Amino acid sequence: MSQEPQNNTSRRVAASDDLEVSAYLEIAREKSGQKPEPETATRLQRETILVIDFGSQYSRLIARRVRESRVYCEIIPHDITWDAVSGLNPKGIILSGGPASVYDPDAPLAPAWVYDSGLPVLGICYGMQVMVHQLGGKVSPSTKREYGHAVLHQNSNGEPLFQGLPPSMPVWMSHGDQIAEAPPGFSALAYTDNSPIAVVGNKAGMLGIQFHPEVAHTPQGKTFLENFLYRVCGCQGLWTPGNFVGEAVQIIRDQVGNGKVICALSGGVDSAVAATLVHQAVGDQLTCIFVNNGLMRREEPERVQNTFEKYLKVNLVYAQASDYFLGALKGVIDPEKKRRVIGEEFIRVFDEEAARLGKVDFLTQGKLYPDVIESKTDESKVSAKIKTHHNVGGLPQHMKLTLVEPLRYLFKDEVREVGLELGLPEEMIYRQPFPGPGLAIRIIGEVTHEKLEILRAADWVVMDEIKANDLYRELWQSFAVLSDTQTVGVMGDFRTYGYLIAIRAVTSDDAMTADWARLPYDVLARISNRIANEVTGVNRVVFDITSKPPGTIEWE
Ligand code: XMP
Repeated sequence: MSQEPQNNTSRRVAASDDLEVSAYLEIAREKSGQKPEPETATRLQRETILVIDFGSQYSRLIARRVRESRVYCEIIPHDITWDAVSGLNPKGIILSGGPASVYDPDAPLAPAWVYDSGLPVLGICYGMQVMVHQLGGKVSPSTKREYGHAVLHQNSNGEPLFQGLPPSMPVWMSHGDQIAEAPPGFSALAYTDNSPIAVVGNKAGMLGIQFHPEVAHTPQGKTFLENFLYRVCGCQGLWTPGNFVGEAVQIIRDQVGNGKVICALSGGVDSAVAATLVHQAVGDQLTCIFVNNGLMRREEPERVQNTFEKYLKVNLVYAQASDYFLGALKGVIDPEKKRRVIGEEFIRVFDEEAARLGKVDFLTQGKLYPDVIESKTDESKVSAKIKTHHNVGGLPQHMKLTLVEPLRYLFKDEVREVGLELGLPEEMIYRQPFPGPGLAIRIIGEVTHEKLEILRAADWVVMDEIKANDLYRELWQSFAVLSDTQTVGVMGDFRTYGYLIAIRAVTSDDAMTADWARLPYDVLARISNRIANEVTGVNRVVFDITSKPPGTIEWE
């Protein structure tokens, strides 16, 4: 059995920063009885590795590592049929780890086609145990659990999987069960102190490894994976941003034909890249709609307008709706109610603007692969997030929109690469996640024009110093929060009574968990000093040292 730490579930998780706008529209479409899935999507089929998911928290990491090695892959459930995947042109199969033991009554197994297809197979941890078990070998509980670092020793030289690797090397283990006997036709290729058979393989390219090559704790893990991809499966490494753009543009053209497309820009990288791809494909058939809700940071709406209208020459409808949003938020204090109000207003303004465009056929949005996997594999997270916005209205009847989701099979880092390839500004490409409800959930209590101005000015200082000190990209998010607390201070000879600003800076991989960033004291000092001097109405600055859990990243 694998000993994998449990994921922390979260009340709300944004895998991509444009989720909010997408989520509003997704619910609105569904309310109008429209299908949630797109008709077609940019799914490249030149060479694919299938990653069969047995429930490991690392399945996604395996997929990312494969993609980083320039090979396209998809994560698929363990009970999927061959017919459902044969069109992807599979070149090999990876069986992921998982929390089960092969002897559990409900242990998930690989479908028979995995072994009958003649494709190379790499079983990782539980994936190896499943393969050994299904092919007639023996798996047994080990006397000693192996968790953490181990040293792997090769039994012989010359195996393709070990090309370029030393006879002994550190690997990271996480298992209770182990291989007691290799299946007929397989031989033991490597061992560790606690696992006499830590790697098995046969002549047909079926391989099993007990350790995890996908985690950073296995320093040569990338070489293992690339040996499998390139030497065993014969992949060519065709998954590059340039190839993606070329093929995606063609697929979008085929899907859209002469139709009219709209896209809601959020200011984030995902919708920006999706819109730019669609624009490359169908030019003026695309109109982007940007709703300025008045809850964005300083200069942000202007940047969206400049990039799309002036630089990319995209048809852009810029809806200045700040007053509507602020009006609707008047007196609203409850964070979830703020979210609902903002969702409702967004759909209302979006509807209004889209209606002016006449008949529209397609809606493009920047949904990413992690959101797709999540909605397929873990309903609860997405539905929990979406329920927050259950009050948004449906789209009007004349807007029967088919989705164009060109990023549906991309991870976030791939979206960034594609964005750079398309020539989008780095500032947009590397923007830290920013929530759809914007500054409204960073102002504790009622959102007013005056408070928005204070927060914008404070946030500007935080961002300026974080960027000036080269910290922006290593932080998941960094921002200011305006509390509803006022405190006494002294400036010159005068007593002041001003707001308390909190600085929040976190590191994270996916927003599910986060740690407060250990910002250098001198950076904190400068931020504090500048806020007190430059932001009227603020006389005290604190630094939030709460990790997630127990805190959330946002204060509301
Ligand atoms: P929390 O605060 O739950 O946030 O730790 C996790 C990530 O999600 C973002 N976030 C939101 N994004 N709409 C969004 O689009 C929301 O209502 C929302 N609430 C939080 C947050 O900024 C962080 O990246």
